[in-house]
Amino acid sequence: MLDAARRLVKPSARSGVPPFMVMDVMAAAARIEAAGGRVVHMEVGQPAAPAPQPAIAAARAALETGRIDYTEALGIPALRARIARHYAERYSVAVEPERIVVTTGSSAGFILAFLSLFEPGARVALANPGYPPYRHILTALGCEPVLIDTSGATRWAMTVEALIAAHRKKPVQGVLVASPANPTGTMIRGEALAALVAAAEAEGIRFISDEIYHGLDYAFAAQTAAQLSDNAVIINSFSKYFCMTGWRIGWMVVPPDLVRPVERLQQNLAISVPTLSQVAALAAFDGRDEMEAVKHGYEENRRILIEGLPGAGLDKFLPVDGAFYLSPNACWRRRASPRRPASTSIRRAERISSASATPARPPTCARRSSGSAIGCVGWAKRRRRVPTTSNNHRW
Ligand SMILES: Cc1ncc(COP(=O)(O)O)c(C=O)c1O
Repeated sequence: MLDAARRLVKPSARSGVPPFMVMDVMAAAARIEAAGGRVVHMEVGQPAAPAPQPAIAAARAALETGRIDYTEALGIPALRARIARHYAERYSVAVEPERIVVTTGSSAGFILAFLSLFEPGARVALANPGYPPYRHILTALGCEPVLIDTSGATRWAMTVEALIAAHRKKPVQGVLVASPANPTGTMIRGEALAALVAAAEAEGIRFISDEIYHGLDYAFAAQTAAQLSDNAVIINSFSKYFCMTGWRIGWMVVPPDLVRPVERLQQNLAISVPTLSQVAALAAFDGRDEMEAVKHGYEENRRILIEGLPGAGLDKFLPVDGAFYLSPNACWRRRASPRRPASTSIRRAERISSASATPARPPTCARRSSGSAIGCVGWAKRRRRVPTTSNNHRW
């Protein structure tokens, strides 16, 4: 038996991507809670509020029908049309419903985008620091993440100069940008985004825009790349603004010539997106007043943090332009690499989660999520008593 096992094919090299650290931390925290412990959750970018009431009501009504069937691979037509209308209402840009693809969260959107656009070996530029799964998904798909270091001088955002410099060194085929960004919470101004899209496309580089935190913009209004180019691939989600993380539903806006390739991929990879979540997402647009109230709560958290943290000894953090993250004392000393995670060790996650007294001086480079509306200044005071999780992005 053992001999047979030894002869079997081993887990693939591509599966050896680093863990998504925040999920390891979540799991470690869950173990503490299962054992009767109490944890203050600040690790995961997850709103504390539930999905909008109309979404929940629509899902209940759909369940009552007793049939939850597959849908078209690209999504329920009514939902695709409603998302297209959202672009007209919010950004005054006309997007044909045919260009909308409903996805299993934006996470599936990345897979569909990368698979439909890039051959193995393709190089894709990413801002560093950035959301770790970008580079891990690319690596798993045989593509090469090209990390472009950012700094305070550019609000921790990718610039035309940095992108073109990397491209001149060795050509990149794609660039992925997020505004508001995770983990920094910083945003790119409209003019800078327009310049980036134009520069990328002039060089034949495909522009991918992660707009998952749109709607949660405080410093200035976020601009969609759909306003700037029909060739850009936009990835968005119901997870954050609509508070629907666990429903696992998002969407893409794709160029007309990418609709069929993405449809073929989705048909084969997933058949369709969970129907109940699609029904709920359609109704979620009727819950915008509720969601605006949630957003105002984040704004209040943001104010409390900005005003209160210096008094708790945290006087340096990145501009909190959008999303619900605050990165105190950000000093990304170590550079991320596609194969080097923040930490590969679940033990590290457990250390973070179970430390009953986190150090008086918080870890440098910690990103804390304020989406859970916990009084974060209270957190700073309480942290000696209650295990506190953070998403320790270390680069
Ligand atoms: C920047 C960014 N993009 C994408 C995602 C994935 O979100 P989802 O798959 O829930 O849409 C997250 C989740 O935290 C994120 O922070």
